[in-house]
Parts: sequence; structure tokens; C-alpha cells
Amino acid sequence: MARILITQRVFPEAIDRLRAAGHVVEMREASEPISREELLRKVAEIKALVCLLTDKIDAEIIAAGPTLQIIANIAVGYENIDVEAARAAGIVVTNTPEVLTETTADLTFALLLAAARRIPEADAYLRCGAYQGWELIQPHLGLDVYEKTLGIVGMGRIGTAVARRGRLGFAMTVLYHDHHRNEAVEEELQAKMVPFELLLSESDFVSIHTPLIPNTHHLFNREAFRRMKRTAILVNAARGPIVDEEALVWALQQNEIAGAGIDVYEHEPKVHRELLTLRERVVLLPHIGSATEETRRAMAQIAVDNVLAVLAGEAPLNPVAL
Ligand code: DGY
Repeated sequence: MARILITQRVFPEAIDRLRAAGHVVEMREASEPISREELLRKVAEIKALVCLLTDKIDAEIIAAGPTLQIIANIAVGYENIDVEAARAAGIVVTNTPEVLTETTADLTFALLLAAARRIPEADAYLRCGAYQGWELIQPHLGLDVYEKTLGIVGMGRIGTAVARRGRLGFAMTVLYHDHHRNEAVEEELQAKMVPFELLLSESDFVSIHTPLIPNTHHLFNREAFRRMKRTAILVNAARGPIVDEEALVWALQQNEIAGAGIDVYEHEPKVHRELLTLRERVVLLPHIGSATEETRRAMAQIAVDNVLAVLAGEAPLNPVAL
């Protein structure tokens, strides 16, 4: 029997499985993130911590948990956890990869289409009663997607799933930039690996799929936006700080790029004030990349699988890499 803390509400079936295995589970009911003080206090008594990407699990928190065996993040990204400190303390860190790949790719493509075809703007126009009938020169003329060039920054699982949608569904030419060549994707989708600068200057749509690491922080700055086509659209459903939000606002205001579909923000849950005022070909979502009922339930179950394995003395299913 072990004590387990879950930092925010999760689906009941996930807790049931932990309890059925004989563990004592404390789940916070609140929807806001756990305070640092509460976490420091509670981590001292638990063997497993189930947390979210909004929980900052740094070296101090880890040091305060002498009995901690596993930190199970309900997310694929894990930049909220000091993995090195956890490893040094002999604590396993796990994430929830794969299960959210297609869901996040769907949302990424939805953002791309919504920004290109100005769907939120047209929806608002109709709802406020402004639609007076079909016109050749409609107020919401958009950009074509079919057969355009899609630039994928980070050709991992989600990047590949987005590229597949672009290539197979929309006959797009796929360019990508990554540290590693992805020969499988080159063969399957005729994707071409190119330098970052070339991807920026050649792509009609640039979609970000890299993890947030020191090298990718503010990868999209003024310089990057200057290199993009003035008709290009940026899509980010990866991590906010990969884009310098101030520079994004500048690029949109100066027409350095044509639009953006954004699901993640530099200082979540805050969104740059001026970004909120930009509507033309700009679509903003509240970090819902993986937010379908099936996927979020599956993510919680994977975290539970990992906790149960580690507490039973078995290897975790999804340990993260340093
Ligand atoms: C993740 O899992 O990292 C996603 O951002 C959650 O939606």
C-alpha cells in the first residue's frame, strides 16, 4: 500500500484502479494548480505523484520527497519536471506519449485550416447578423491549402502525423527540419529535410512540433518571422515559449506573416494582450491539442499504468529520456 497524490481532478476510473490495487489516493478537486507550499508539504508523505504540465516539479520539490518513487506526468511534454534531479534521486519520471499523437495532429490541422480559411471570423460575422448574401468578393477571402508547401519543425511522432495529413489529405509538399533525418517519412511522404532558414522561406504553412528545450526557446523570433513568406501562416500546438510572443505580435502587425493558429502561449495561461486583439487569420485556442474525451481518459490511464508498475517493483512503461 502506498500513498499517492494526484494534483488535479482526473477521471474516476483512473483513481478506481489505483484504489483497487490497495493504494491510498489523495486527489485535489481544485481546478487551479497546486500551490508550491502545499506540494512541498504533501510530497514528503507520498510514494507516487501524478501531476500535470502546469505543476512545476523542480529540484526543491524532488528533494522534499524522500519516499517518492515515481512522478507520472499526464502529458507527453515534461519540461515542467527537473528530470535530472529526479534521476539523481532515483525517482522514475514517466509521460504519456503516442496516445495523443493523432488527436494533437487533428487539432493542429484544424488550426491550420481555421486560420487559412478564416473560420472563426466568418462564424462571428454570420452570428452577428452581418451576412447579407453570397458575394464574389466576400469579406473573408482566405488562403488555399491544397498543394501548398507545409514546413514541419520537428519531425517526431506528432510532426509526422501532421505531415501525413498534409501530404495524403491535401497533396502538400512537405519540408521538414530536425536534428535527425527521418528516412521513413521521406519515403512515405516524399518529405524533404532542409535547413531551418530554407524551411521558413519556402513554406506556406509552418507547423511547430519540437519539444521545448533550451535550443528551441524563442526559435521563432523576429529574424525567423522576417524569413517567412508574407503569405505564410504559423501554427503552434507544441509549446508556447518556442515562439517569442512579442515577436509574433510584431510579425502579424507588420504583415511579415499572414496569420497564425496558436494553441499554446509563452506565459500560459496569460496571452499577450495585443495578440488577443488580432483577428484577421489569427486563431487562438486554450491549449486543447490533446483535449478529446477519449484521449484525455487514455492519458490518465497511462499515468496510472506507470504508477502501478513502479509501485509493484516493475519497470515503468513510459520512462522519459533525459
Ligand atoms: C502534452 O501532453 O504535452 C500536451 O501539451 C497536453 O495537451
